[in-house]
Amino acid sequence: MLSFEEATARLQAAGQTHVLRFWSELSGEEKDVFLDELSQLDPEELSQHCRAAAEAASRASGEGERLDTHMEPVAAEFIGSVCKSDKETLKQWDDEGILQIAENRVAVLLLAGGQGTRLGVSYPKGMYNVGLPSGKTLYQIQAERIQKVQELANEKNGSKCTVPWYIMTSEFTLEPTEKFFKENGYFGLDPSNVIMFEQRMIPAVSFDGKIILEKKNKIAMAPDGNGGLYRALVDNNVLEDMEKRGVQYVHVYCVDNILVKLADPVFIGFCVSKGADCGAKVVEKAYPAEPVGVVCRVDGIYQVVEYSELKPEMAEQRHPGGELVYSSGNICNHFFTRDFLQEVAQKFQGQLKQHVAIKKVPFVDEEGSLVKPTKPNGIKMEKFVFDVFQFSKKFVAFEVLREEEFSPLKNADGAPVDTPTTVRRSLLAQHYRWAVQAGANFLDEHGNPITPKLRTAQDVDPPAICEISPLVSYFGEGLDKVLKQKSLKSPFLLNVNNAKSLLPNS
Ligand code: UTP
Repeated sequence: MLSFEEATARLQAAGQTHVLRFWSELSGEEKDVFLDELSQLDPEELSQHCRAAAEAASRASGEGERLDTHMEPVAAEFIGSVCKSDKETLKQWDDEGILQIAENRVAVLLLAGGQGTRLGVSYPKGMYNVGLPSGKTLYQIQAERIQKVQELANEKNGSKCTVPWYIMTSEFTLEPTEKFFKENGYFGLDPSNVIMFEQRMIPAVSFDGKIILEKKNKIAMAPDGNGGLYRALVDNNVLEDMEKRGVQYVHVYCVDNILVKLADPVFIGFCVSKGADCGAKVVEKAYPAEPVGVVCRVDGIYQVVEYSELKPEMAEQRHPGGELVYSSGNICNHFFTRDFLQEVAQKFQGQLKQHVAIKKVPFVDEEGSLVKPTKPNGIKMEKFVFDVFQFSKKFVAFEVLREEEFSPLKNADGAPVDTPTTVRRSLLAQHYRWAVQAGANFLDEHGNPITPKLRTAQDVDPPAICEISPLVSYFGEGLDKVLKQKSLKSPFLLNVNNAKSLLPNS
């Protein structure tokens, strides 16, 4: 640990001595805690970081002009699509993916280091219960999908396979996530196959390039964005662990998408059969101004263009058939080969673009009292997981149906989109569709039949409430033998136990 004099010298070199202004008021223990934190900051990196943050925040990106002439959609030969492919092709991809899973070559990697400020809960987002009949949290739903996809691969290939689950956390989420998994018996998974690691934190900076103090002896730190993944892989020897386990393909996803298909065999099979080193799932943009990034090429290089950088006239461009030219909405759902991750982590992670997020950062005022600002006062620099597409030698995109695969939890209830209510409805609407397609009939609480209706508006619940445990069905498969011609009273929860009793010979 640094001495006070050494810490002062470092901070002087970085132009940040203001953080010591309460030093004389601190107890011995508080001083030690602070020195410990300051010891972990590299002075060179620190001054560069503070300068870069202030500079970046003060200038507009100017990307818009360049994009007008240099941007192109993803080339047709590099896009696969669930709805435009025939059944036979989809089955081939599915078989390929299942084979890779069965041979232990596939891992999933969850990005769970975010602070979830918009949702506004004090615990990790994965622990959120969105109000399903089962009361399951996002983490539990994901754990059960892993279990089920392993089971499907085992059944098909007669082997016993593992899909290791790597979970990137941060200082905010590691401890509570670990505790939650332990308390819940890792939701039935083998703890040795659930590997949690921590991403780095970086200081939040004021608009004039000064580190913000969150306590008299603590710097306001924030995780370095989900693109901090690549540095975290190196810091924590994660790629070595993957190599030891024989993992070759990694499915990376965000914690908040309730419909995520973990280790999706169709997506993996598509990427593997195309020989891709990097792939992105996309959904068709709902409307031109929708605030999602667009997967495209700029000067021939694949990247995600953020919605804020895309001018309306570009966003509104349409093909003669009426479809948007820039329609590939990024849903933070990626395929990487381990070799690609290795190359990025070793050679390129230092080159990843720093994105500027202007945020409300709680701080201590001159009197040392904590202030929760009502307006943005600070800059957080973040790297994004998708900024590595540019390093890919064979990039592919895979278009999936939004209503089947993408519904993120971002905001608290009351917001118009991406709330606990909207994600719960997406999942229940999907499970209701699966049940009706499998031949189930639903009855209301008085025993009267409910008229089936496969399409429902997003702002209402499906006609009947039906939740299907991922342990029974990963993506709608195998339900006809359980639900065909069954009359089910809404709300209905299908789990492993009652699924057995519904089977014809039970
Ligand atoms: P978001 O950008 O939506 O951020 O993260 P968030 O933290 O969930 O929510 P807000 O913006 O504070 O409201 C997308 C995904 O990236 C992960 C999140 O956990 C989520 O899965 N993430 C984000 C990280 O893993 N690390 C980070 O530093 C930031």
